[in-house]
Amino acid sequence: MPETGVIAQPGTAERRRPRTAVSRRLLMCSPSHFDVTYSINPWMEPAKPVDGTLALTQWERLLGIYRELGHTVDVVQPMGGLPDMVFAANGATVVDGRVLGARFRHEERTAEGPLYLSWLRANGFTDTHWPEYINEGEGDYLLVGRRLLAGTGFRTDPRSHAEAQEFFGLPVTGLTLVDPRFYHLDTALAVLADDEIMYYPEAFSPGSRAVLRELFPDALLATARDAEVFGLNAFSDGLHVLLPESATGLMSGLRERGFEPIGIDLGELLKAGGSVKCCTLELREG
Ligand code: ARG
Repeated sequence: MPETGVIAQPGTAERRRPRTAVSRRLLMCSPSHFDVTYSINPWMEPAKPVDGTLALTQWERLLGIYRELGHTVDVVQPMGGLPDMVFAANGATVVDGRVLGARFRHEERTAEGPLYLSWLRANGFTDTHWPEYINEGEGDYLLVGRRLLAGTGFRTDPRSHAEAQEFFGLPVTGLTLVDPRFYHLDTALAVLADDEIMYYPEAFSPGSRAVLRELFPDALLATARDAEVFGLNAFSDGLHVLLPESATGLMSGLRERGFEPIGIDLGELLKAGGSVKCCTLELREG
């Protein structure tokens, strides 16, 4: 039995269908002020040194690949004293040109919410809503087709889910995370196509696992090994899937399904508990 790291499921061949890349508009933030100076998740060890130059090189490679693939990437100015601002996914949730601002759980990151919101407003996204409840943007809100999957358990307040549903007018499905290593939804689940996801079942409560099975019976399931290297912190354009290169099991699972996985090394950013998706906010225009 080859060690693919992917849990075998029947009928894999039927799921291999033609894939098409759709170019996206993305927002990123340079890690020029990135560091690990506090700890708000189990990956962050302030005593462990971060190589700022290497972080920048790794991040620039991700940006370069997005552009080579034909995506439009805007870059927001980073701010000194906000070492986690590189994780643009947390800055907001943007669907149909409407922006739900991010309100962070930890004081260390609260200033990021208004900064992302003002960049968005200045760049044409004027239909914005400042949230009443804590939510960490696309860290916990992932759009699959016309449904939002919404994480809770560590960061986003479950009351934010109803707020997002009312604001976007889209169905919001709440999912509870239970493993502190996978504190944001985008560390445990990735959207691959309009009706397709991959996820790590053990990161979710039993009820949420059942919901995921119900909605996505054919999902690609990650092993602990692939989840632990942040293999689910991935970005898909419908064909290319950018993910941490060490998630080898997921890479072969994706290839079997007709996707083109592209391995990325964001080792320095992983020291803060982030990778590909965390660095990427999708700007969905109306
Ligand atoms: N250090 C950051 C935090 O704990 C990492 C955020 C990663 N972002 C993400 N979308 N998962 O908040």
